[in-house]
Amino acid sequence: MSRRNAGGDDDHPWWKEAVVYQVYPKSFNDSDGDGIGDLAGLARRADYLDDLGVDAVWLCPVYGSPMADNGYDISDYRSIHPAYGDMDDWRQVRDVLHERDIRLVMDLVVNHTSDEHEWFRRSRREEDGYADYYHWWEGEPDEPPNNWESIFGGPAWSYDEARGEWYLHLFDEKQPDLNWRNSAVREDVHGMMQWWLDEGVDGFRMDVINLISKTEGLPDGDPEAGLTGAEHFMNGPRVHDRLREMHDRVLDDRDLLVVGETPGASVADAREYVGPNGDGLSMVFQFEHVTVDHGDDKWTTADVPLAEFKEIIAKWQAGLADEGWNSVYLSNHDQPRMVSRFGDDGEYRRKSAKLLGTLTHTLQGTPFVYQGEEIGMTNAPFESPDELRDVEAKNYVERAVEHGEADCYEDVRETVEATARDNARTPMQWSDDTHAGFTDGEPWIECNPNYAEVNVERARSDPDSVLSYYRELIALRHERDLLVYGEFELLAPDDPDVFAYSRRLDGERGLIVLNVAADATSFDVPAEVDRDGLELVIANADDAPATVPATLDLDPYEARVYLTPSQEGGVGR
Ligand code: GLC
Repeated sequence: MSRRNAGGDDDHPWWKEAVVYQVYPKSFNDSDGDGIGDLAGLARRADYLDDLGVDAVWLCPVYGSPMADNGYDISDYRSIHPAYGDMDDWRQVRDVLHERDIRLVMDLVVNHTSDEHEWFRRSRREEDGYADYYHWWEGEPDEPPNNWESIFGGPAWSYDEARGEWYLHLFDEKQPDLNWRNSAVREDVHGMMQWWLDEGVDGFRMDVINLISKTEGLPDGDPEAGLTGAEHFMNGPRVHDRLREMHDRVLDDRDLLVVGETPGASVADAREYVGPNGDGLSMVFQFEHVTVDHGDDKWTTADVPLAEFKEIIAKWQAGLADEGWNSVYLSNHDQPRMVSRFGDDGEYRRKSAKLLGTLTHTLQGTPFVYQGEEIGMTNAPFESPDELRDVEAKNYVERAVEHGEADCYEDVRETVEATARDNARTPMQWSDDTHAGFTDGEPWIECNPNYAEVNVERARSDPDSVLSYYRELIALRHERDLLVYGEFELLAPDDPDVFAYSRRLDGERGLIVLNVAADATSFDVPAEVDRDGLELVIANADDAPATVPATLDLDPYEARVYLTPSQEGGVGR
């Protein structure tokens, strides 16, 4: 298998040339029949990942946790949740991946802990050295310190009876925010990161890392400006200092992939986090393209406006082209399934899943594949609120009914089914066996009923499957520096159906044309594109012409990639 992990020089680190696969362990593969995916189950699928050709795995949290937010509420950073196994199982995962040249990136959740973490218990008791580990505020039990809203809905403050004070939680009340102004907190976090590095991890995905610094004095936010308070906790005043310190103390001089999750970050913000003069992050997960269909919040959604979507992608491509680097993703464990959202999960499921994969693998930046994306998994039905598992979705339904926006679940069901994070968390569909081959027990969340049709076993033996296409895409990505490093230029920005762009690197050129619509269309290749020498290298239709005609007749959701032949000795080869 051709893999580029060998790692190049400063300008061509392994993580720029990698394709990363995200594993949500709870839903990936269950080895012991308790209905919850686990590390032994993941280890058993190492050959699957190897065969797909990915270079790294980002593993969502597997640490000790009461699971209020599926592990994003950590009660012990240095242990493994028993449902997932233990440290020996984790080492087994590390080893089976490393044996296959697949790197392992861990989730680092340090904006907050669980309220069951030892630090919080001590802080609540105001034990020596721990009183200021979190954001506490004295005040009357009926008067929260400010008007900030939690990202999961409701106020961002809860009153703690034990300490008789308020504490801040930007997420669930069981996820108190750490006080990063306290140097002891920072030292503890650095020590923990060091511990995992000593265990051989190859990088970190830093959960909501741009929320760690809050405006001094915790002032009220503007209630008219979206999520109330965000201007005081997103990309806050000391965030760069904190990241630089972390970089200097822990991350410097190591060959790591460090990707920061940064909701609300602009291109200008991102340039401060990444790049040669940035804070030492390899890349960030920006959110603009996955909020393009949101109204006031994620629960009011519209169709994806393609022209705007293209503009956002083009802006990020250009903004991080010379300094910095992009991550490229359309799905993860917090987003609905991409084929349901950006494609068509009915008649054109395969075709549009392939088209979207073509997009993520032919932009400049590092592609991230979320488990199940590679077989075209779709959003799921949630017939009753009892089928929901995610705290965010449950809160939403509860509040909608409580506030009279809905009389009952049926009124919001469509919204939930289009938007809820649970869509991404239904079990990985391995086969058409009971529970999709995910577990021998009762799964913690229902399988998507379409698993008899959409599953790995079936896809594996079908050369025309989404899975086979992803394998080709990943291999192509490894073969061509042009696709990794080439300059991106958006073509026909106003075309409402076609997403077309060119890539260029030294003497090599590429043209990518995607018809992101359920209707056939034609596309006139713009005059600025030199069609000469471009050859079809991958397409999701059998009859695509091998060279570029002046006008492309495109089927619904047709995707084509034309490249000039590879020139020997290109950059980074
Ligand atoms: C991030 C995670 C999400 C989690 C939240 C709080 O956005 O991706 O799953 O709920 O942070 O940790």
